[in-house]
Formats: sequence, C-alpha cells, structure tokens
Amino acid sequence: MNYDALFSSVGQGLQQSAIRQMGTVAAQNPNLISLAPGYPDPGTFAWDAYLEITEALLTQRGRATLQYGPTQGHPPLVAACVDLLRERGIAATPQELLITTGSQQGLDLVARVLLDPGDVVLVELPSYTGAIAAFKNVQASLVGIPQQADGIDLEALDDTYRRLAHDGRRVKFLYLVPNFQNPTGLLVSLAKRRALLEWASRRDVLLVEDDPYGALYFEDTTTAAETRPIKADDTGQRVIYLTSFSKTLSPAFRTAIMVAPPALADRFEIGKQAADLCTSNFDQAIVLEAINRGVLARQLPLLRQHYQRNRTVMESALRASLGEAATWVTPRGGFFLWVSLPDAVDTHRMIARAVAQGVIYVAGGAFFVDGTGANTLRLSFSLATPEKIVEGVTRVAAAVKEELAALGAAALVGR
Ligand SMILES: Cc1ncc(COP(=O)(O)O)c(C=O)c1O
Repeated sequence: MNYDALFSSVGQGLQQSAIRQMGTVAAQNPNLISLAPGYPDPGTFAWDAYLEITEALLTQRGRATLQYGPTQGHPPLVAACVDLLRERGIAATPQELLITTGSQQGLDLVARVLLDPGDVVLVELPSYTGAIAAFKNVQASLVGIPQQADGIDLEALDDTYRRLAHDGRRVKFLYLVPNFQNPTGLLVSLAKRRALLEWASRRDVLLVEDDPYGALYFEDTTTAAETRPIKADDTGQRVIYLTSFSKTLSPAFRTAIMVAPPALADRFEIGKQAADLCTSNFDQAIVLEAINRGVLARQLPLLRQHYQRNRTVMESALRASLGEAATWVTPRGGFFLWVSLPDAVDTHRMIARAVAQGVIYVAGGAFFVDGTGANTLRLSFSLATPEKIVEGVTRVAAAVKEELAALGAAALVGR
C-alpha cells in the first residue's frame, strides 16, 4: 500500500525533533557522553518519598486514584496549584486552571485552539523546538524576533508587528520563555517583562509564557524576585501561563499547569477532552501528595544547588578548553548553556566530528525559525555527572578545534 498518499498535509510535514534525533544517536552509542537532552538528573528524584506515596495511594485503594478524572484536573491538585501559583505572585481562580499532560500538551492546545493555517505566531530567535513543532503542526506562520542580553528585542518586536499588520497579517500571540530559556538560558529583565505586557495590551496580542525553569534559579547570582512571572502582573488578562512539574519532581508524572483567561481556559479544556480525556489521575495524586508532604518544597533548594554546581563545572571546563573560540552568557538558572562559535562553523555539520570524539550536543539551527544560528550549539548541564561534563566539554572543544583547523583562517573572519 502506498502509505504516503494517506498522509494529511500536516502528517506529511511532520519532522523528527533535532533533540530527539540526538537521543537516538546516544542510545546507539553507549560510550557517547550526551550533553544534548534537557532531562533532569534522575539522581535528584525523591525516590523514597515516591515509594511511600505510591504505596500509600495503592493500599488505600481510593477509587479516584486509578479512575478517569475530570478533564480540568484532579480537584484537590487544582486547589493545591492555586496556592503554588499564589506563591509565584499569580492570583488565579480554579476556573482559570487546567492540569495538562506536560506543558507540551499546553502548547499543543494553544496551537489547536487558537491558530488557523497562516496565522502569525511571534517567537524568539532562538526558541524552544517543542513549541515551534506544536505551532508548525497547525500550519501557523512563525516569525522570529532577535534577543538581547536581557531578553527579546522590544524595538524589533514592534517593528515586526507593524510590518506584519501593514501586510494585513494577524498576529495571534508572542511565545516566550522568560526564565532561563530553552535553549539560551537567558533571563528576561523585570523592566522588559513590564514592557512586554504593555506592548501586548497596546497591540492587542496575547502572550504565551512558558515557565518550566523559573524555580531553578541559581542563588549565587539570582533571586526569586527576578523570576517573577509576567502572568503575575497580568491585570488585563493577556497572558496564557504554562508551568510544569517535569523539571522539579519528575517528567514521568506528565503533570503541568496551564493558566488562561476563563473564556480561553474553557475552550482549552474541551480541546483536551478530545486529546486525552484527562491527565492520569494516578500521576496527579502522586504530585498532590508530593506537594502536601513537603517533597516539592524540600527538593527546590537542593535542585538549585545541584544544577548551579553543574553549570559552574561546565562553564569552567568551557573556559579552560574553548575560551578563545567560543562565547556564551553565564546561565543564572535552568539546564542549558548556549555557545556561539565563529560564523564559519556549522555546528550541524560538526556533529560527525563530535560523535567521533564521543560526545553529542544539539546544533543550534534547530531553534531558529529563520534558518540562521548555524554557528550555535546547546549544551545541557542537567543530566551528566560533573566528571562527564568536564570530559564531554573537552571532547566538544576537540571537535571545534578540528573544525576550525579544517576551515582554516577563514573561520575567524567575522568574530
Ligand atoms: C521551554 C519548555 N517548554 C515546555 C517543555 C515541555 O515540558 P513537559 O511537557 O515535560 O512539561 C520543555 C521541556 O523540555 C521546555 O524546555
């Protein structure tokens, strides 16, 4: 049978993510050091607490635990999330909340409920590949806005908006990850957050704020106040806010929170019904217990210390082995370190050299919707041990040096 003839136009266009592709390469080469995926370190998971919680849940045999539940979410978890959000400055009512199966589902719902083919979504250059994939799936038109050290370039944002409006294009929303962005690790300044809200209101555009890393700030440089969500000051109901337990408890629970103005939240809930009826009640019950027993609160300071140490190890290794040839901004939280190499380097092409050296990373081009970024790469410091981080960075540096030598002096032009 000719299966190709069966694909929808969306099905035909589906592409494997660059990050997942690297996962396959790593699985086939057990000796490779992978600095590619943004996975939390399983060594940080609160295993003993989860053993106790799951045993208690199963021995109590409460009906709800293994049953279907309301699409909106397990009601006691929804209530607990209202409290958690309040601690982050967000005053949301239960009606504005939806528990989603990972924030990835939140992105998919935003795409399917809000976007028609050809609608414009503004994204940062670079931007999270999972969001790019979700928006492309519904054939939206993605337009990139450059970043500055303190976040998206507001002047370029408004210029782009005006150009699109002039051409009769409808911008539905701006997608951004203000806290320790995937992939750059950038933190948007508080001044810029306020300016973004003001801009969204002036231009009548929604903001989709994706915040899985906000709680993982590094205390050597950064305070919780600097990670205040844009949603916390959203008096005009313009922000759809997503946050997740994947990076703080475990991605296996596939439990995340979406907050949206009530009229939108209702539609997202109906959209979710068609997608999965409800997020696993068992997973939600575990997350609820982890909140109620103080597991989450105890984990957060440990995770901040753990990932801060890994970041410091990675940065020193980079400075020692690649200092001359690379530039980066020190991440103040999250999982990622973003490296820029001389213009002539193509990090996608360089992957073969990296694999030969025994390391993988994610080539930066995958995060750009405008085809640029070929000289960038994303290194994740979340999963590897400090020893592997040092060895992995040394191997990346060896691949870069080989590539520069192969390119010759021309490689340094434009630095
Ligand atoms: C920026 C961003 N958004 C969303 C997600 C999806 O997270 P999850 O679906 O596990 O909640 C990720 C995962 O890496 C991410 O980095």
